[in-house]
Amino acid sequence: MKVVVAGTGYVGLVTGVALAKIGHNVTCVDIDSKKIALMQKGISPIYEEGLEELMVENAKRLSYTVDYKKAYKDADVIFIGVGTPERSDGSANLDYVYEVCDNIAESIVHDCVVVIKSTVPIGTNDKVEEYLRSRVEDGIFISIASNPEFLAQGTAVRDTLYASRIVVGTEDKYAKDIMREIYYPLTQEPYNVPYLEMSRRSAEMVKYASNDFLALKISYINEVSNFCEIIGADIEDVTMGMSYDKRIGNKFLNPGIGYGGSCFPKDTKALHYLSCEYDSEFKTIKACIDVNKHQKLHLFNKLKETYGNLNMRNMDIAILGATFKPGTDDLREASSIDNVKALIDYGCSVTVYDPVGLERFKKIFGDKIKYATTIDECIKDKDITMIMTEWDTIKNYDINNYINLMRTPVIYDGRNCYKLEDIEKYPIKYVSIGRKEINKL
Ligand code: UGA
Repeated sequence: MKVVVAGTGYVGLVTGVALAKIGHNVTCVDIDSKKIALMQKGISPIYEEGLEELMVENAKRLSYTVDYKKAYKDADVIFIGVGTPERSDGSANLDYVYEVCDNIAESIVHDCVVVIKSTVPIGTNDKVEEYLRSRVEDGIFISIASNPEFLAQGTAVRDTLYASRIVVGTEDKYAKDIMREIYYPLTQEPYNVPYLEMSRRSAEMVKYASNDFLALKISYINEVSNFCEIIGADIEDVTMGMSYDKRIGNKFLNPGIGYGGSCFPKDTKALHYLSCEYDSEFKTIKACIDVNKHQKLHLFNKLKETYGNLNMRNMDIAILGATFKPGTDDLREASSIDNVKALIDYGCSVTVYDPVGLERFKKIFGDKIKYATTIDECIKDKDITMIMTEWDTIKNYDINNYINLMRTPVIYDGRNCYKLEDIEKYPIKYVSIGRKEINKL
């Protein structure tokens, strides 16, 4: 079976490499020739643990090309894994998906299953099928399957091979059989991934409902956490107490400075937009989006409350962590961006440290801020340190260094990186999320 993957971002490339790992011959197509050249040398254009090793290990079953015509021509299955970014009104932009469809239509010479992995609004698979069928040559049968992706950045390879589930939405036996054949190895030892079949609309909805549920969980716990600060409860005790109820569980209950990344912000807005289009607004999702917007600046607002506009002017602030979460160099919708913008507007001088995200951060802020390659260098002579991402290098950092290196050892921790009982041993001021403030200065 000839398998092609269109798009080599987090979803496309990881899917392609995983399919090669389970024995398929896979051609990865992208319009970016620089990315293709890198991958041809066995280099991954994205930072993802274990990916490059798998690219090398399965090199004989993997090829990379910009020549989509040749790739799609005699493909049996084409996975579409291109981006569906957010438009300014919150709806999903499907231009890249349709661009791939146009390319498939002009290239394909025999029957083919086109699998949509990109996150698309409910009903898109039906529309894409109609679109493609009206454009391919007579006699060629195209069937569309919906196969949403559930990988998280930073653990993408593991999340794909040892997936929580494979969801496949089809409307005909042809696509159903091909999809079963493709994924058969993943349903067996050692992977044993549950394989779920349903209609395409249900599969599309599974993706949004799952992501938006997780985003809701985060916004909910952030609100609980903010209220804990007001009433004097400790969020960590509260979440521990909640988590013993198996129906609640202990995952995705970490409070912080809001969710970021390329998925939750976009997928909450897209589902909300779609529900409004059907005149059936998702009120829970609307609340989730609003809470997250405020939460991103929760730490900054606490700082402002304490120091006021005037005192903050000319303050030297260290920012530890720039990416939207650890394990990735992705800055999309990262809370660090909102906080740094707000600090600059208040006239603060900002220095940022991140183990992998600095180059991308420089593209956003240029010489408006300073950049440090170590935590020591970042916090040296600063008035306040703000923690934005819970990288291990930050969590394991020696607390003594804040005292020795900073002008005043004041930490505003947006990711609760340190235990309060540890912090209490030091002469520092420590403000975190949903926990009591410690001031031993
Ligand atoms: C998310 C989902 O977790 C994946 O299942 C999904 O496949 C993916 O979106 C997607 O649609 O492609 P991802 O965006 O990589 O994955 O990252 P997450 O680990 O879910 O984190 C998202 C944001 O939530 C981060 O900013 C993180 O800091 C925040 N978060 C997460 C919290 O604030 N608290 C938590 O308890 C968990």
